[in-house]
Amino acid sequence: MDDVRERYLSAIASAENESALEEIRLKAIGKKGEISLKMRELGKMTHDERKKTGPELNALKDEINRALSARKAALEDEALNERLRTEWFDVTMPARHRRQGTIHPVSQVTEEVTAIFADMGFSVAEGPQIESDWHNFDALNIPGHHPARAEMDTFYIHRDCADNRPPDVLRTHTSPVQIRSMQSHGAPVRLIAPGRVYRADYDQTHTPMFHQVEGLAIDADISMANLKWCLEEFVKAFFEVDGVELRFRASHFPFTEPSAEVDIRCSWKGGTLKVGEGDDWLEILGSGMVHPKVLQAGSIDPEKWQGFAFGMGIDRIAMLKYGIPDLRSFFDSDLRWLRHYGFASLDVPTLHGGISR
Ligand code: DAH
Repeated sequence: MDDVRERYLSAIASAENESALEEIRLKAIGKKGEISLKMRELGKMTHDERKKTGPELNALKDEINRALSARKAALEDEALNERLRTEWFDVTMPARHRRQGTIHPVSQVTEEVTAIFADMGFSVAEGPQIESDWHNFDALNIPGHHPARAEMDTFYIHRDCADNRPPDVLRTHTSPVQIRSMQSHGAPVRLIAPGRVYRADYDQTHTPMFHQVEGLAIDADISMANLKWCLEEFVKAFFEVDGVELRFRASHFPFTEPSAEVDIRCSWKGGTLKVGEGDDWLEILGSGMVHPKVLQAGSIDPEKWQGFAFGMGIDRIAMLKYGIPDLRSFFDSDLRWLRHYGFASLDVPTLHGGISR
C-alpha cells in the first residue's frame, strides 16, 4: 500500500499539466484504476482483512484526490504567474499618432455667429435648401417680373412637362426661412437662420454654393436703432474689437423698407485687414425694416408688429476674419488647405471673444 501511495503521489507532484494529471487520476482511481480494482477485491476478503484494508484504501483514495486538486491549483497558479510575467504593456509609452480632422472655417464661423446672437436672445432656425419659388421670391415681395429674380442666377429644379406648377428652386438666399419661421412661430420672434444657398456664379469671390445667415427680429416696437445696436454688438464680438464704426448706406431690397447696406470701418495696411480703424469701408451685410407685405406673407399683422431683418455672407466674414484669400478654396476639399485653415475640435468659440488662435 505504501508503495502504491508513493508511486502516485510522486507522479502527481511531477505532473506538468492538467491532461497528465487526468491520466494519473484514471490509472489510480478511475473505474478501472489500480485502487478501484483493489476495492472490488474487498468482497473476496475475510471479515478481518476487509476491516483493515477497506479504510486504508478509502484513505488512500482521499489522499490521492486531495493531491490531485492541490497539484491542479498549483499548475493554475503557475500558468497565471507565467502570463503575468510575459503579458504586460507599458502604459507610460507615448500613444501612437493618429491624424485628426479639423473643423472647416465655415462650420467654425457658423458656430461663432450662433454663439454671439444666442447671447442676444436669438434662436436658430432652419429651412429647406430646395425651396418653392413662392417662399424664395413671391413671399419676399419679389414678383415674377422683378429684376431681382433675374439677378439671382437661380438654379431651377426640373418638373415634368405635364406639370404646370412653377418649378422649385435651390434657394438663392436664407431669407425664405423668415417666411417659414413667421408662419410657424408668429410674433414676437427673434431668430437667425444659417445655411447653404445657391447661385449660378463662379469666380474668386463667388461659388455656386455658399453660406448665408439670416437674422429676423419682430416685436411691437422694434426699430432701426435696435438693428444698429445688435449689429454693432455682433461686429465687436466677432472681430474681437472694442469699438467699431458702422456705416448704414441707403439701399434697396424688395423685402425691406427702408433698406440699408452696412459697412464697417477698416484698414488694409500692408495687405492685412484691420477692423475698427483706418479709412476704408467694407460691406458686410444687407438689412432693413421688414416690408409689410413680407409680414403679411408670414401671416403676421403689419398693423401690430414690425421688425428688422438682415442677411450676411458667412464665407465672406470667414475670409475677412481669418485672412483666406480665395472663396473657391473653401470647397476644394484640399487636405493641405483644411489642415492650414481648419480648427482643432477643442477650439470652441467663446461667447464674446469669437476664438483666439
Ligand atoms: N437676401 C439678401 C441677399 O441674398 C440679403 C438680405 C438683405 C437679407 C437685406 C435681408 C435683408 O434679410 O433685410 O442678398
